[in-house]
Amino acid sequence: MFKLKSDDTAAKSETRSGLSRRGFLKGALVGAGALSVGGYEAVAQMVGGPSVRGWGVPPGLVRIDSNENALGPSPRAVEAVLSLVTSINRYGQNPDLLGKLARRHGVPVVEWTDSPFAPVHDAWVAVGAGSSDLLFAIGHAYIREGTEIVESLPGFGFITRFAGVANADPVRVPLLAGMKPDLDGLSNAVTDRTAVVVVTSPGNPTGQLTPLSQLKPFVASIPERVLVLVDEAYIEFAENEADREGAASLIADHPNVIVTRTFSKVFGMAGMRVGYALAQPTVISRINSHRANTLTLLSTHAASAALDDETHLRRSRNLVIEGKRYFYEQLDAMGIEYAPSESSFVMMNMKTDVDELVRRLREDHNVRVGNAKARWNIEGWIRVTAGLPEENEAFIAALKKVMMSS
Ligand SMILES: Cc1ncc(COP(=O)(O)O)c(C=O)c1O
Repeated sequence: MFKLKSDDTAAKSETRSGLSRRGFLKGALVGAGALSVGGYEAVAQMVGGPSVRGWGVPPGLVRIDSNENALGPSPRAVEAVLSLVTSINRYGQNPDLLGKLARRHGVPVVEWTDSPFAPVHDAWVAVGAGSSDLLFAIGHAYIREGTEIVESLPGFGFITRFAGVANADPVRVPLLAGMKPDLDGLSNAVTDRTAVVVVTSPGNPTGQLTPLSQLKPFVASIPERVLVLVDEAYIEFAENEADREGAASLIADHPNVIVTRTFSKVFGMAGMRVGYALAQPTVISRINSHRANTLTLLSTHAASAALDDETHLRRSRNLVIEGKRYFYEQLDAMGIEYAPSESSFVMMNMKTDVDELVRRLREDHNVRVGNAKARWNIEGWIRVTAGLPEENEAFIAALKKVMMSS
């Protein structure tokens, strides 16, 4: 017969097995410095100190193929997670997050409750499990059989993938020289059947930013019944502060513009899965009605805390800017063509069999870079994410060795 253990018996058996759950959690938190020393400084040491090298990847592996943030998350975000980790038996979310995001981007603030069950009316912001969650919802809400989705080629292509599922038609517009998006071409490709036109700024894999001065006339040229999706996953890496404002200011006058952003890149929280969309309330409601509640207590608190840490944001951006400068210097010295980028990665033209190059970098040197031929059919090119300085150096050293021996 099943019998409940008394506290005492349970404690003894936990001790015997050496696995006290409470003790384990306490140890983890104390080890992290969050509860014992307390506060930002301790957690900052944990994520920002020398031990950050190799975090989240096996020791020695240089993973600069996935546009992840090598610096790690904000210590404030880590602190928020640690302080709530024993409360995950509860539903809930951070009620401050929507308001903070609305204020950050200058759209009307609508209060949120901490109940994941209370619908938010008239919000100009939607939060999802990564921006892909919102891109998925946009696809689900807007793309129907017989419609068209217009996007650059090559491009991120997330929404365009819906075309196959929904029996819609992808319309791909080739890039211009310098990997710039052809805005006139995208606009001219819009027909009566177009449901969504996508601009990714900066583009993936191109790294090319479309400034507001070009986006404004572009948006004005698109009929209001067509949704203009501006995916700004990487825009916080732009060097020019004004460029980092992105397209949010277009939303007030354009009910068909939606901007998506993410905590996965500059905020270093890809594994936490938080992204958001900015648009007028009718668009936001439509998108929310195509999503489940994918937000979590930990992710919304972590995101909210990260928004308060401008220092981490700057560090994160500067690490990438410095990393790209280093790449440019090295590539110039080696005579390798590249596309200067406003994003966290650089496209490099190796003019060689990149399948073999990428394989050798991985197998012989433990360095993983993106194969632009395999992913976007761009013959001869690789896409390399700026990592920590030692990771960037490891990549360049490995590249030289592979090139010399081939
Ligand atoms: C252009 C672009 N948009 C959106 C995403 C989705 O990111 P997440 O779902 O992590 O927010 C990515 C991820 O790499 C991306 O490159």
